[in-house]
Amino acid sequence: MSGADRRLRVVLGVGGGVAAYKACEVLRLLTESGHDVRVIPTEAALRFVGTATFEALSGNPVRTGVFTDVPEVPHVRIGQTADLVLVVPATADLLARAAHGLADDLLTNTLLTARCPVLMAPAMHTEMWEHAATRENVATLRRRGVVVTEPASGRLTGADTGKGRLADPAEITDLARLLLARPDALPRDLEGVRVVVSAGGTREPLDPVRYLGNRSSGKQGYALARTAVQRGARVTLVSAHTVALAEPAGAEFVRVGTTDELRDAMHAAAEDADVVVMAAAVADFRPVDRATHKIKKTDRDPDPVALTRTPDVLAELVAARRHEQVIVGFAAETGDSSGDVLEHARAKLKRKGCDLLVVNAVGEGKAFEMEDNAGWMLSADGSERTIALGSKSRMASDIWDAVVGFIRSRRVLQSHQYALTQQPGEELGRYTS
Ligand code: CTP
Repeated sequence: MSGADRRLRVVLGVGGGVAAYKACEVLRLLTESGHDVRVIPTEAALRFVGTATFEALSGNPVRTGVFTDVPEVPHVRIGQTADLVLVVPATADLLARAAHGLADDLLTNTLLTARCPVLMAPAMHTEMWEHAATRENVATLRRRGVVVTEPASGRLTGADTGKGRLADPAEITDLARLLLARPDALPRDLEGVRVVVSAGGTREPLDPVRYLGNRSSGKQGYALARTAVQRGARVTLVSAHTVALAEPAGAEFVRVGTTDELRDAMHAAAEDADVVVMAAAVADFRPVDRATHKIKKTDRDPDPVALTRTPDVLAELVAARRHEQVIVGFAAETGDSSGDVLEHARAKLKRKGCDLLVVNAVGEGKAFEMEDNAGWMLSADGSERTIALGSKSRMASDIWDAVVGFIRSRRVLQSHQYALTQQPGEELGRYTS
């Protein structure tokens, strides 16, 4: 079997917390993708989920210590041959042991011998997550290149709520698949950057039952929010009518319905954002009249519904932008008799005035509701690049790479402007804009 054809090897470490049962869902999703998954629980994890469950779901033997199968040297070999090590849940204790390089069981030995990407998904009570010891351990691991995901906020074990809940298993699996496809996809290069992303499709009601809408699932916008959080950004996700998607852990979440609601939410969040991404499919028209009761067949003749234009939110955001803000638009195009997909997209980039336009060819079997996406990225400076078919998180990573390029070049430009306007004796640290 060639390297490209072989099943990718994933080690799924399981820490000793109540969320260990959710590791079973991650395990199932990974094996369904065809990966060879080896589960390594800690001793404490086996007090929550039994060996038989992990062995049956993975089809592989399950061990916790280093003194079984000794001739095969598992404490070294499993880590060395893995394509990804994933830890679900990563407890405070496990994060501490990993950060300090302890090797007192098979999982921590594997973490020390692995040379592949490592993804740890923490779950613990809020006090433990916020404790200085845990914060420092997480910072140490991230500095070394380990992807430590942000936990979600919500119901914890017992009646209490707060930050520390395990991120949704589907979200963890998506990030794992991303790292398998592109090991360098989640650098911490958006630390300190404030991002707002819109996702989904707005709906314009005709009456309390019916609406004008579109087929956007919201998956691309959610993938953008999810990957930005993991790259260190402070993210607000403005979400309009998505299919049942897990809220990205660590993002501020704003739910909207109509174009006007999305417009208000985007303007509010964009005020102090460094990056604005309009991935939502916004309804271009809304009915002039909105009935307060359900329209009956007998209420009216089958006349065309009178429509009026909605505001162009992206164009408004561009007009209101702060000088250094990076703005990304999306274009879903089919091409028609007046031009192909890219010709329409180039004209749209000029019309909208954003920095970057992400272009998808849409139509039956393309983009909408699909798991994978492909397209092009057009920059305001005229450069264009193709985005190969891949997961929506993979496309999101390409988009963030381009955004990071914009942020860096703007900062270089600002520091030049600063140097030109700096007065003798003036201190560094303030940019002119
Ligand atoms: N957009 C917006 N407000 C609208 C319509 C679109 O902010 N009323 C944004 C979308 O979020 C997307 C970009 O503009 O980022 C392009 O959307 P698209 O529907 O492709 O373009 P339109 O401007 O609607 O042009 P057309 O439908 O004529 O192609």
